[in-house]
Order: sequence, then structure tokens, then C-alpha cells
Amino acid sequence: METAAVKSMLAWYREHQRVLPWRSLPTPYRVLVSEVMLQQTQVTTVIPYFERFVQAFPDFAALAAADIEAVLKLWEGLGYYSRARRLHACAQLVMENGGELSDDPTELARLPGIGPYTAAAIASIAFGRPYPAVDGNVLRVQARLLADDGDVSSQSARRRVYERLLAVIQQTPDPSAFNQAQMDLGAMVCLPRQPLCDECPLRVFCRAFASGEPTVYPRRPERRVTPRMHVAVGLIFYRGRLLILRRSEDQMLGGLWEFPGGKLESGETPSQAVEREVREETGLTVEIGALVGVIQHAYSHFRITMHAYRCRLAEIGEPVVACERLHAWVIAEDLPKYAFPKANHKIFACEGFAEGFQE
Ligand code: ADE
Repeated sequence: METAAVKSMLAWYREHQRVLPWRSLPTPYRVLVSEVMLQQTQVTTVIPYFERFVQAFPDFAALAAADIEAVLKLWEGLGYYSRARRLHACAQLVMENGGELSDDPTELARLPGIGPYTAAAIASIAFGRPYPAVDGNVLRVQARLLADDGDVSSQSARRRVYERLLAVIQQTPDPSAFNQAQMDLGAMVCLPRQPLCDECPLRVFCRAFASGEPTVYPRRPERRVTPRMHVAVGLIFYRGRLLILRRSEDQMLGGLWEFPGGKLESGETPSQAVEREVREETGLTVEIGALVGVIQHAYSHFRITMHAYRCRLAEIGEPVVACERLHAWVIAEDLPKYAFPKANHKIFACEGFAEGFQE
């Protein structure tokens, strides 16, 4: 990137940058929390989560001392929950090592949940160190500037952009602004499908703009179709309490709570699947009652259709749950204390869901 282009981009950033809560006070802790939240989530979604999170846990010491359940609860709805567990572990490691975050990206990248992008973002934004943070937005801006139609999804392409920008950022007085200007440019102007080239400070330097077809760059990888999963779950109430199970840590959505149930096997109806899954997971025998709802939800790599049935316990006397996983019988008022995946929240919202607590 030539000097005049960098200057133009920084002038644009000074005037048009987004007002974001971590930008007004970029302490190492707040930058770390924001960058981890932003790893797979859009800025507008992250803002309220960030505010609540730093209010509840204002520094490394508070986060390190927190109960993981409380951390997961504040993360609820943000997705990719392993990020919350890694961030918690990260705070504990920082506290064990004197309470200060390193400003060196190689050191930072050794911490749980911090990859090369996040390490460079923290080093530059929190400490002003000159390392380029190369994410999808930056790859798009750079591919367009050079009208580079190579595959940007490979590690080697990312590496090449990193090396090129490393030389540039080392000559730049404000590495934090340099990185964040590219992020904002990618998010606000150099949009994937409809770039606002008229507003772009890099237009006169941009070969993709000159080509007349900026959206050709970067080359798009072929889209994969996301698989759909069919799941059936049981809403088992007993004396005003609902049975929930905790997902194991090593699973997707690990540590979150859910209803007993699982995937339909081939040839099985949803209600047969509930009966079988409940037996396998909890040892309980149930009779299937009313269908409370069928919901759809799209997670990042698959879509889910979830059927939820009211269940009656077949046994006489107190139900005994034979389950290695943590389980809980919860009253309606306590349900909000547990963190659930999004699909389960859609079940909560089904008409007739809450009636089970009354019987
Ligand atoms: N995406 C990732 N990090 C970001 C940041 N610091 N500002 C805006 N968007 C981002």
C-alpha cells in the first residue's frame, strides 16, 4: 500500500470511524474481550454483550475469579461458547502470571482462544504495536486494491497479505488506527456485494474500482450447502419442575444446558426418537404427550429442525435419573439462570411450553 493511500485511509477513519465501546477505553482487558467476542460475531450483536460482560467482570481479576456458569450465562446467545471458556481460562492464566497481558503477538497467540488475527489486533489496538490484523474484511480490501483474483481463503494468501502489510504498518505512526481503519472500511464501504466506491478513500488507488467490476474481487469460494439435522427432545415435567441436562465440555455448545433428546435415526418418527433418546440419556421411561412445537434454527455449520414433545413419566414414585451428565430439575423462575443454545430458546417461546410447570 502506498503512503498516499494510507494517509487517505487514516484521514477517512478519523472522520468516519464507528463509535464502539471498546474504542473509547482500549485497555488490554477490554480489547481482549471485544476481540474474542468479535471473532465470529458481528459488531452490532457484540456491543450489548460487551457492555454487560465488562460491567459484570471489569478486569482480569474479576473474570478469573468468576464461576464459569456465570460467564456462560453472559455469553448466552452470542454463540461459539468455547470462546467464553477459553477467555475465562485466559484471564486465569494472566492472573497466574502477574496480572498483565503481554504486548507481544507471539506471546499472545500462546494464550487459549487467541489466534494470529486476535493477537495482532490486541497488540496494535491495546499497545500500539505495529502488527497487521488480517481478517476477511482486510483480505477483501487488499484483494480489491490490487485487483488480485487469487484464492484468499488459503493460509498462504493470508500470509502474503500479512507480510505486505507488516512492511506498511511499521512505517505508520498509529498501528491501532491503521488496523481499525481497514476493519471499518471493510464493514462500512468496501462491502462484499455492493461496495460504496463513491465514498471510498482508496478509490483512486483501487485497481478493482478501475476495472469497473470491483465485486469480482476477491474470488468467491464455491458455497457448500449446510446440512440439516432433525432432532427431537422431551419436555419432562415433574411436580412443577422441568428436567434439563448439561452438555459436556468437549461438544459443540459445550457447557450449555438442553432438554434430553437427540437426532432421529433413520426410519424413526420424532416421538419414537424422544422415547429412545430419553431412555438412553436418562434411564427414564416416558410416554409421549402433546407436540409443543417444531422450530428451525440455523447454526453456523448446519441447520436444525427440533421437535419438542411433552412427556409423562411412566414410573411410580420419584423419578431416578441415571445419567453421567449433570442434570437439574428446575422451576420456571430458575430457567433464566441456565445458559441454553438458541434453538432451545425458540422452544421456550412456543405456546404451551410453560403450561408444564403448572401441572
Ligand atoms: N472486528 C474485529 N475486531 C474489530 C474491531 N476492533 N473493531 C471493529 N470491528 C472489528
